[in-house]
Amino acid sequence: MLRVGMLTSGGDCQALNAAMRGVVKTLDNSLGDEVEFYGFENGYQGMIYGNYRKLTARDFSGILTRGGTMLGTSRTPFKLLDEPTPEGINKVEAMKKIYADLNLDCLVMGGGNGSTKTAHRLSTEGLNVIALPKTIDNDTWGTDMTFGFHSAIEIATKCIDDIHTTASSHGRVFVIEIMGHKVGWIPLYAGIAGGADVILLPEIPYSIDNVIKTIEKRDKGGSRFTIVAVAEGAISIEEASLKRKHYKQRIAERTSPSIAYDIAAEIINRTNREVRVAVPGHTQRGGVPCAYDRVFASQVGVEAALGILAGEYGFMVADKDRMIMRVPLDIVAGRLKTVDPACQLVQEAKAMGISFGDEGIEGAINPILKPRKKK
Ligand code: F6P
Repeated sequence: MLRVGMLTSGGDCQALNAAMRGVVKTLDNSLGDEVEFYGFENGYQGMIYGNYRKLTARDFSGILTRGGTMLGTSRTPFKLLDEPTPEGINKVEAMKKIYADLNLDCLVMGGGNGSTKTAHRLSTEGLNVIALPKTIDNDTWGTDMTFGFHSAIEIATKCIDDIHTTASSHGRVFVIEIMGHKVGWIPLYAGIAGGADVILLPEIPYSIDNVIKTIEKRDKGGSRFTIVAVAEGAISIEEASLKRKHYKQRIAERTSPSIAYDIAAEIINRTNREVRVAVPGHTQRGGVPCAYDRVFASQVGVEAALGILAGEYGFMVADKDRMIMRVPLDIVAGRLKTVDPACQLVQEAKAMGISFGDEGIEGAINPILKPRKKK
């Protein structure tokens, strides 16, 4: 009998269910009654507190199109992994114990960066772990694509499309805030897909002067409106010159709801324009997975199952150059896949006249993304 533990960790996204279904269907198809599934509830918390359900293949039926995660999820910050829970439970030891008590052969974990670090840690502690690359942010190292990303792009693009019509009717500037605290993959793709005039990313510090120049240039050219797509974690050139801790402090002390409102206020102060803010927020993580994500997540699930059937563990399923493959967890854990300001897509966007707010100031680096010195 093969016993498989499953959990989903960190922020949810579309196609988590599709990925888990892919694992279960493949194993069920191959092993039938010779496999058992144990679903831990709400991420690693389920392992720590012993909250799980024994599931059958039937439980995974009808969930391909369902967003969110049937297992529930939560964030269990990696940096707090070695701190006991409020009840005094040693988290790592508790997870090892339940794995042993249930006599599991492996743990399949759908998660993003932090969750994959924990998966790697458990792997070094002797557990057989396989990670599935989940996150709308697409910032997981070692894979070209994460599932959830395409669904989020569709939603963010639709938001920009919808704003376009009202922005053009009223001749307004719209600042649309798109998810991505540390990386700008979603605003980059959705910004291009939605025809944004300005795209501001965490990886490319901007000057507000350049944003305003773009608005004025469009005014002069007869375009009555401008769309600014801004990542949650976009950063000005002034902020980029701060030390990491001072920048973090500045963000913690922000009095406006978020960066989009700061940028809107600056545009209002310096131009005569009517400016509005739109924040699609968590809608970008919600709803049904798009067709691409359903297919990709299913492929990911199958590959994880094939690994299990082969007795191979300690990897994350990845998509490299459109091939589904296995990447060792120690290569993935603790690394972030950011947008390279010099990459082809950014250059192509610039060639079309999209401003990234960095004209004349290229080369500044967000302090959050600077490699940290080892203590
Ligand atoms: O990591 C996914 C993500 O949606 C980010 O894009 C966003 O910055 C963050 O999670 C929001 O986190 P929370 O759901 O905890 O508000």
